[in-house]
Amino acid sequence: MRILILGIPGSGKTTQVDKLAKYLGVNTIKMGMILRKRAQENDQLGAQLKKVMSKGELVVDQIVADIIKNELEAPVESNSGVQRPGYNKGFVMEGYPRTVEQIELFDPKFDRVFYLNLSIDEAKKRLMERGRFDDNKDAIETRLKVQMQDLQKILKYYKDVLVQVDGSLGIDEVYQEILAHLND
Ligand code: AP5
Repeated sequence: MRILILGIPGSGKTTQVDKLAKYLGVNTIKMGMILRKRAQENDQLGAQLKKVMSKGELVVDQIVADIIKNELEAPVESNSGVQRPGYNKGFVMEGYPRTVEQIELFDPKFDRVFYLNLSIDEAKKRLMERGRFDDNKDAIETRLKVQMQDLQKILKYYKDVLVQVDGSLGIDEVYQEILAHLND
C-alpha cells in the first residue's frame, strides 16, 4: 500500500509516518529528512539546500520530484552491490508533493492519503517547542505560508483516496484514527 501523510508543518506527519510504517512493516520516505541529509554534503547543491531550507522556503520542484522518482524507481541493488531500501511492499511517505507542479512532474499514485488537520496556532506552538535548525519564528512563518499555498489543490487532487484526521488529538489517538481508516 502506498500511503501519504499530509499536513501543515508541525501537524505530526513524521511522527505518524514512523509509527504506521513500523506497524505495516514497510519503509518510510520523508522528504524533509532526505533533503536535510543531502544538505550536509559539501558541494554546491548541499549549500543551496541549506540556504533555502534554513529560511523555510521550498526547494525547487524539479529537484524534489527527481529525488522521489529516483528513490522509488532505482533498483534495490546498485552495480556496486550496495543495497537500498525497497518499496515493493508499499511505503509511507510525507513531505511530497507540496505543489501542484510536483504532482505534474511525478505522481507516486497513492492508495490512501491521510490529512492531519491542525490549527496554525497549535502547529506553531509544537514547532517552537521542538527546536530543529529551521524551527525559528521567521522560518516557521515562511514554511506555513509556502506550504499552505497549494494545500487545498493537493487535497482536492487526492479527494478519492483522502481521509481527514483531527491532528489536534494526542499522538496515539491520531494513530488509532489512521489505523481505523486504513482499509476504507
Ligand atoms: P519537513 O521536514 O517536511 O518539515 P515540515 O513540513 O515543516 O514538517 P515538520 O517536520 O516540521 O513537521 P511534521 O508535520 O513532520 O511534524 P512532526 O511529526 O515532526 O521540510 C523541511 C524543509 O524541507 C522545508 O521547509 C523545505 O525547505 C524542504 N522541503 C521538504 N519537502 C519539500 C518539497 N516537497 N518541496 C520543496 N521543498 C521541500 O511533529 C512536530 C512536533 O510536534 C514534534 O515535536 C512532535 O513530537 C510533536 N507532535 C507530533 N504529533 C503530536 C500530537 N498529536 N500531539 C502533540 N504533539 C505532537
